[in-house]
Amino acid sequence: SALAGVDSTKTIIHQTTHPKAKLEKEKLKFGTTFSDHMLEIDWDAEKGWGKPLIRPYGPLNIDPASSSLHYALQCFEGMKAYINDDGKIRLFRPDMNMARMNSSMERLFLPTFDSKEMIECIKQLVLLDKDWIPKGDGYSLYLRPTGISTHPHIGVSASSKAKVFVILSPVGPYYPEGFAPVKLYADDKYVRAWPGGTGNTKIGGNYGSTIMPQYEASKKGYSQILWLFGEEHFVTEVGTMNLFVYWINENGEKELVTAPLHRGDILPGVTRDSILQLTRGWGEFKVTEHTITMPSIVKAQKEGRLLEIFGSGTAAIISPVELINYNGVDINVPLDAEDGKSGKLTKRIWKEMTDIQYGRVEHPWSVVI
Ligand code: COI
Repeated sequence: SALAGVDSTKTIIHQTTHPKAKLEKEKLKFGTTFSDHMLEIDWDAEKGWGKPLIRPYGPLNIDPASSSLHYALQCFEGMKAYINDDGKIRLFRPDMNMARMNSSMERLFLPTFDSKEMIECIKQLVLLDKDWIPKGDGYSLYLRPTGISTHPHIGVSASSKAKVFVILSPVGPYYPEGFAPVKLYADDKYVRAWPGGTGNTKIGGNYGSTIMPQYEASKKGYSQILWLFGEEHFVTEVGTMNLFVYWINENGEKELVTAPLHRGDILPGVTRDSILQLTRGWGEFKVTEHTITMPSIVKAQKEGRLLEIFGSGTAAIISPVELINYNGVDINVPLDAEDGKSGKLTKRIWKEMTDIQYGRVEHPWSVVI
């Protein structure tokens, strides 16, 4: 067809004449500060993708009838750019984020794009704003690619206009004092996702509906919700993260287990996939993707077989769990006696992941730009 694809060689760059002052990195609060420039690419059903535009960060001009504003035709990605002491800038597995964004776009019947070309456009943006990447352990530039329908039609229908934009936010360590283990509230009152739903895509609607339940949990003194599904109380995700359980299974084997993707209710996390590959590569214990229920965790804990639990995501990388409230009872998850902040495996995975992300260890996952 004659429809144009995203073409990074056609990028138009309008540089700001008013560069913003940068906050001291110690004052950064996740997702509140944005860099000088943003990327914007428009699509329409007749012409395809327009020329990529890099322009000063600022408001979007969209029609109030845009279906993204009415029917949540919106998806996003979270990825990070890291800068090393030697000044090299690295993106972590950007191909994975772009593939997932295309699957989210497909689910919303929005247009897809060539991942390689989109990564090239993102590289142009990150290089232009490279002074916004904070240096140091735990610091990075959080990239937020976003896809929206700009179709001005309040009928519920396929979009004939869309926009992808990318904004950049300098961020610090999720936990300034290092690891801080979290307390979870496991409840089946609210359901995050279900088989056949949209939980396996990164669409805004999956997240907006979690804010009120999350607030209820925080009022009870728990920092995140452990999302359950079904009468069996399958353990699915935690807050905005995937969940890993490290235990001695019923057969007496050490096993790292996370919920499987095949039911369609689990987000295919980039950190999740990386942890599975890393630990399988060690070959030291069983690593599996299968359903895991809350009662089986309770039983393992009673029998002393529960070793560690942690969440995984791009924002926090790894988030150790110290306790789960289930059926009104607090279930303690063991932590390493030395520092009481996480388990030993949790810490080892966190170190190996961040060594790769900061380029302390060369790895094909970290793409130097
Ligand atoms: C993550 O990386 O854990 C996220 O998905 C966080 C984002 C929704 C702010």
